[in-house]
Amino acid sequence: KREGSQAWRGTPMHILNKLADTGAPHGPLKPTETHKVMFQTPFTYDPNSTKPPKVFPNFLDKWDQYHVRMPCSNMNEYPVNNKILKRWDLIQRVLIAEIESPQDFAEKVLEYNNQYYEKWDFKTFISFFDVASKEEKQHFFSSEGILRKMANLALQLPHLCPTPIPLLKRGTNMSVTLSQQQIGCLLANAFFCTFPRRNSRKRSSEFFNYPTINFNTLLCGPPSVVRFEKLRCIFHYFRRVFKKMPLGTVTFTRQCIKDLPIWFDEKTTLRGLHVSSEGTIEDDGKGLLQVDFANMFLGGGVLGNGCVQEEIRFLICPEMMVSRLFTECLDKNECLIMTGCERFSDYTGYSSTFEWKEDYIDVTPRDIWGRIQCEVVAIDALVIYDHKSQFKMGSVMRELNKAYCGFASVDPNIKKLPAVCTGNWGCGAFGGDKQLKALIQLMAAAKAGRDLCYFTFDDVKLRDDIYELHKYLTSDNPLSINALLKIIRDYGSTCVSGYKRSNVHQEIFEYVKLGLVRADFTLLELDPPPF
Ligand code: AR6
Repeated sequence: KREGSQAWRGTPMHILNKLADTGAPHGPLKPTETHKVMFQTPFTYDPNSTKPPKVFPNFLDKWDQYHVRMPCSNMNEYPVNNKILKRWDLIQRVLIAEIESPQDFAEKVLEYNNQYYEKWDFKTFISFFDVASKEEKQHFFSSEGILRKMANLALQLPHLCPTPIPLLKRGTNMSVTLSQQQIGCLLANAFFCTFPRRNSRKRSSEFFNYPTINFNTLLCGPPSVVRFEKLRCIFHYFRRVFKKMPLGTVTFTRQCIKDLPIWFDEKTTLRGLHVSSEGTIEDDGKGLLQVDFANMFLGGGVLGNGCVQEEIRFLICPEMMVSRLFTECLDKNECLIMTGCERFSDYTGYSSTFEWKEDYIDVTPRDIWGRIQCEVVAIDALVIYDHKSQFKMGSVMRELNKAYCGFASVDPNIKKLPAVCTGNWGCGAFGGDKQLKALIQLMAAAKAGRDLCYFTFDDVKLRDDIYELHKYLTSDNPLSINALLKIIRDYGSTCVSGYKRSNVHQEIFEYVKLGLVRADFTLLELDPPPF
């Protein structure tokens, strides 16, 4: 980096709208038809309180297709030695007892998951402690150790989560707010693999359309350095929870947009852009609507081998993982918004070099509902198998609509929407074209009424290219979304799949720029010149 050179172009960061500017939420937290709250309401967060949000005194047992099937439900039964047992009794019996070693842990978890005796080897978990120091191992398994505390927290489930947790199903607009303590308890249960009906991956299984939640997929299978680092993140999170229970709340909102824009009639022009070759969404996008480059199954490979943007975010903010418990996989017009997840860890590296680095103290202020003012929206891009296919209008529309679903705000009271903070969405593991995706995100953000903050992840050329093109598109005679789309369509048909195959190497930014220079009147739908 040159001395004094700045890494960003465009609108300065401090000009972009932030979450705090929206003034939302207004008034105390109360449940509505489409917003379920898992603790007592009306609720207003008191920063001086030393207690978590209060829950109802009795466990309300709802064992049906609309709610999370709770491990502590009376209806949760399990066959052991030809006898049908109440599974929670079994779980309690097993987890109250001392857990002495990794092998002992494995045996205990298998007692209430005996169908997986041959399948779950717990190799990752066992090897983790093979390489750990003797003290670390002792501390983990001791009677005051973190595993004991995790088991105790898991066992608090009926007391901490007495209200039925709704499933966020496909095609619905629904929010659920939980306390951070409840999330800790649910994640402790996930660690001990207590959630019923969540282990089978068969098509016929009830939760086939949901991400996995029990941690067996991380704890079992071939050990790897990345899996060890994931465990470090998770144990660190629990260590922090036991040191001082976080007292705030988190909201998960499934947003399903049925009224999609008619893009080819769209006269809106692009809005402000801040583009930087340095920085990351989680470090530098404070107060903005941060994008999770998601899998349609939220969290992607976080409980397996995956370790890119989404998985890393879920590991440093583990409360995001609880979304997997109740969020059915996303449809093409849907997203999941996670508001208030606290960050607990810092990391280095990426993918195979990912490492837990150290504790992270999240000093982001909370809103009056007790949520850390951090909004993350999960949108899943298309998986691109064939580079050319993404320029077809069907694919472009799919991505435009998906990004729009993530960026649109359904709250008419919010006037100054925070800018979107994004980057190479869909362009890593999913193989998309960075230039095309940048254009798509600019258009979707503009239609949603938001500026865009884009981190190019060290790509200086991309930063300059996006900046230059955006300047062209927004100059004196700004181009509307429909006109831009026509150029993209033309690029797709002539350069990619059309007759002029020789042009296939021309990049889309270049083509758009040339299209503007040529001032192609048919493309831009301007009146033809009078000759
Ligand atoms: N901040 C800004 N940019 C980033 C960051 C960050 N923290 N991390 C990565 N990038 P990828 P996808 C850039 O591959 O292609 C997961 O398994 C970097 O240039 O995570 O949408 C999900 O669960 C990187 O190459 O997103 C899905 O299954 C690019 O963003 C799948 O990956 C894309 O990151 C989604 O893949």
